[in-house]
Parts: sequence; C-alpha cells; structure tokens
Amino acid sequence: MSKVVSIKGLHKSFETGGEVTRVLTGLDLVAGKGEMIMIMGPSGSGKTTLLNMLGGIDRPEKGRIRVGGVDILKLDKASLNAYRRDSVGFIFQFYNLLPTLSARENVELGIEMLVPDRAELTERTERYLGLVDLADKMENFPQELSAGQQQRVAIARALAKEPMIVLADEPTGNLDEEREQAIMELMKSLQDELGTTFFIVSHNQRLKKFMDRTLELRGGTLVDMPNGGGGR
Ligand SMILES: Nc1ncnc2c1ncn2[C@@H]1O[C@H](COP(=O)(O)OP(=O)(O)O)[C@@H](O)[C@H]1O
Ligand SMILES: [Mg+2]
Repeated sequence: MSKVVSIKGLHKSFETGGEVTRVLTGLDLVAGKGEMIMIMGPSGSGKTTLLNMLGGIDRPEKGRIRVGGVDILKLDKASLNAYRRDSVGFIFQFYNLLPTLSARENVELGIEMLVPDRAELTERTERYLGLVDLADKMENFPQELSAGQQQRVAIARALAKEPMIVLADEPTGNLDEEREQAIMELMKSLQDELGTTFFIVSHNQRLKKFMDRTLELRGGTLVDMPNGGGGR
C-alpha cells in the first residue's frame, strides 16, 4: 500500500489570555492510499485541530505533513489554496453551505475548478446529490433543508471532488441509523473504486465496522486502538 499521508513530530499549541494549551505534542501518523481511519478521543483532545492541520487550514509550530508526496507546510499561499480546493474533501460540523445558493449550486461551487466542462459539472453534481439521496432536493436552499439533509449536501460536495483525502468531523451526526449506514457504504465505494483515504472523527461505535483502523488522540499524540478495524 502506498503512503498518502505522513505526519511527523507535529506540535500545536494555542495561547489565549496568556495561557498556553498544548494540544498536539509530537504527533506522528502514516496512512496508506485507500485507508479509512477513525479518530476518537475526548472533547478538547485535539481532533479538530489535527484535521485542520491536515487540511491546510491551520499550521503547527513544528513538524512535517506530507500529503501525496508534497510537504504542505512548505507550499506558498496559492499552492496551499489549490491543495485545499482540489485534493481535500471537507465534511465539517458546520457545513459551510452558502445560504444564498441551492443544494445544486453549493455542490457545483465546490467542484467547478476541478470540472471545467459545464455538462460534466452538471452530470457529476447530480450524480453525487443522487448518491446521497437528495435528487428531489437539488433546487432547495439550505434553510429549506433539515439538518440531516444539509449534512448530506456537505457530504455530496466533499465526495464529488473525488479528492485524494477526505477529512470528516462526525460526518453522520445528524443522520438516522439507516442513512448513516448508506452514507458509510457510499464512502466505502469511493475508497474501493478511487483509493480515497478517509480520516473520520467520530464517537459512533456503529461506524467502527467500516474502518480499517481506529486511533485515539490522547495526550497530544495518536494511540492505536486494539481491534480498531471493522475487519472488512
Ligand atoms: N483557535 C483556537 N484558539 C484557542 N484555543 C483553541 C483553538 N482551537 C482549539 N483550541 C483549544 O485546543 C484544544 C483542542 O481543541 P479541538 O481540536 O477543537 O478538540 P476536539 O476536536 O478534540 O474536541 C481545546 O482545548 C481547545 O479549546
Ligand atoms: Mg472537534
């Protein structure tokens, strides 16, 4: 299995009001192409901070992050923007859907730089909205959609990129059990067909069977959880 992500010695602290919180304290992580990795850990342990580092949203004080052979901490601003735009699918808890755009337009906006051909853009957008079972909600605006439907728009937008890596923070938190399982099956199919690598932050034990590995953030580093894979 080829390496897609390699993180070495990551340190990240935050300072608020003169008080320093050390969040990541020399974190290492290696992930292969097409791995699905669950990241657990108590609230405040640094899970979102880690995803932000991997997605090029925030920077560590120290350490190295290689994604697809590129040292993303050495990229200039334009290249880092291109990395975020083209290589990373974000499924975060605040879906960041633009309220003035329909579900269709939100997905299109996320991938239009990647899919310049108009017909292909329409086809791909409709296909992914269909895959998350929103074919009948494509023209609706976010405020016309339930939390679960908005979450599925965000999932369609991230997956339609067909990105190298997907970073997901409780991606199925607003879905009922049946939809949650269907969305996980969809992610598994991308993993199988495209070799997408997934980092999924969740506390949901029902997601475990889909995972190749489960890691726990503890004391600023990642610890392997025994029986962390679903054995699929
Ligand atoms: N931008 C920030 N400024 C100050 N402190 C932050 C910031 N982001 C996160 N933290 C702190 O870092 C720690 C880890 O946060 P986070 O990564 O959000 O944890 P988790 O996602 O595991 O709940 C927490 O103590 C949080 O308060
Ligand atoms: Mg978090």
